[in-house]
Amino acid sequence: MDKILVLDFGGQYNQLIARRVREQKVFAKIVPYNKITPEDIAAEGYTGVILTGGPNSVYDPESPHFPPKLLELGIPILGICYGCQLLAWMAGGEICSAGNASEYGKAELHAVGSVLFAGIPAKSVCWMSHTDFVKTPPADFAVLGETENCPCAAMGDERRRIYGVQFHPEVTHTEYGRQLLHNFLYTVCGCRGDWTMEDFARKTVERYRRELAGKKVLCALSGGVDSSVAAVLLHKAIGEDLTCVFVDHGLLRKNEAEDVERTFREKLGLKLIRVDARERFLGALRGVTEPERKRKIIGEEFIRVFEAEARKIGHVHALVQGTIYPDVIESGQGDAAVIKSHHNVGGLPDVIDFDEIIEPLRELFKDEVRAVGMELGIPQEMVWRQPFPGPGLAIRVIGEITREKLDVLRDADEIFRQEVAAAGLENAPGQYFAVLTDTRSVGVMGDGRTYGYTLALRAVTTDDFMTADWTRLPYELLAKASGRITGECKNINRVVYDITSKPPATVEWE
Ligand code: XMP
Repeated sequence: MDKILVLDFGGQYNQLIARRVREQKVFAKIVPYNKITPEDIAAEGYTGVILTGGPNSVYDPESPHFPPKLLELGIPILGICYGCQLLAWMAGGEICSAGNASEYGKAELHAVGSVLFAGIPAKSVCWMSHTDFVKTPPADFAVLGETENCPCAAMGDERRRIYGVQFHPEVTHTEYGRQLLHNFLYTVCGCRGDWTMEDFARKTVERYRRELAGKKVLCALSGGVDSSVAAVLLHKAIGEDLTCVFVDHGLLRKNEAEDVERTFREKLGLKLIRVDARERFLGALRGVTEPERKRKIIGEEFIRVFEAEARKIGHVHALVQGTIYPDVIESGQGDAAVIKSHHNVGGLPDVIDFDEIIEPLRELFKDEVRAVGMELGIPQEMVWRQPFPGPGLAIRVIGEITREKLDVLRDADEIFRQEVAAAGLENAPGQYFAVLTDTRSVGVMGDGRTYGYTLALRAVTTDDFMTADWTRLPYELLAKASGRITGECKNINRVVYDITSKPPATVEWE
């Protein structure tokens, strides 16, 4: 299979680059620049390398560099933004700082004929975001494009198949960005387009059938799309040797446990154990208010429940989890900062009573997981179900968690969902839910004073949950939900709507 290395220099669009490559049916893997050497790149047989952008300046000794030997491997390279400057620097070109005249936003690109620009008009719009730029390209490199402020917006050494662009082809504002990436992948690298979800599903099933023959495996099922797809993949591979465990930790939405159980048994025919662990989780969380502690406790309790179930089955070799690529990155694997310990990655305890943790979707983005789900014939409503976090309502009750608060939140959340559905907008936001804040405020009801909780409603529009915008839900819908919630839910006398995007906020409140 062809594979592209996305060599990560810390830019904000790194994942987007990998997704854009995969959209073109070519596998891409992101590796931090300091976790791989030119020798590894050659040995691992990459078809091409993309150097990402990054916030640094190449002449700063502290900035990330890479051994120039990369240029001698004979593998095609595309440098983007900082990656382009780094290429120029490695090959002996001259980089210059625009000082206070950073270029940010749309620019008109004038391109000259080159395989990289095949099918792209001589004038097009590109997206720039930089301070430094290549002033003089290295010997052997030709200038392939310019903008008003950037004399070398694209450069290339066609003989060695090494290219650099100062602009960002991966963002949609660059009019012909997809075409440029397509040219690099298919014409320059000679990729064949062999990364398809059909193929991924087939190979994954074959691999686990081979590796897990005769072994008992447990799957942690949450009811969300990720763990469902992971379970069905494993079920296809090892059939009855797979037991799915669905833990009712008392932190689920209204009627959720029953819905999940019915779907998995009736529609997917999986062997399923539902564990009632409500007391256990509530007990462990008593008095805990700190979000990371909540996550860690829940991760730990989950594992202990699975271990207990596994012991009942006999020797269970492995535990399957629905971890996906963004979970891995956001939990601080690699160089990224830890934002939250997603409980199926960073929240796991160190000592686990399984020989192996199996994460079949660890390299997939959400859209790819959904495509695999469709390939496997999982019902549409499950594949497109909005995500629900592993720690459940524990991270939507701010502050201490009590049974009463959970009940109130469940009722309010259900009303919100009903009103979104009644407005026919169920599929408009990527995710929507209610959060019970820890703030209380004064209100008036009838003739009396109230001192009740503030409930926040949140709805976000997003492609990948790495970034998100708040959804502009109609005022009428919000008014109706607010009226019903304050009228029907005990102890809530104020409703607010969260109008923050991610970043700077995250989707969940904790
Ligand atoms: P954040 O809050 O990190 O959420 O912006 C991004 C997406 O991830 C979901 N989420 C989780 N999913 N385990 C999960 O399986 C977790 O611990 C977890 N925390 C957040 C969140 O609901 C959103 O869809």
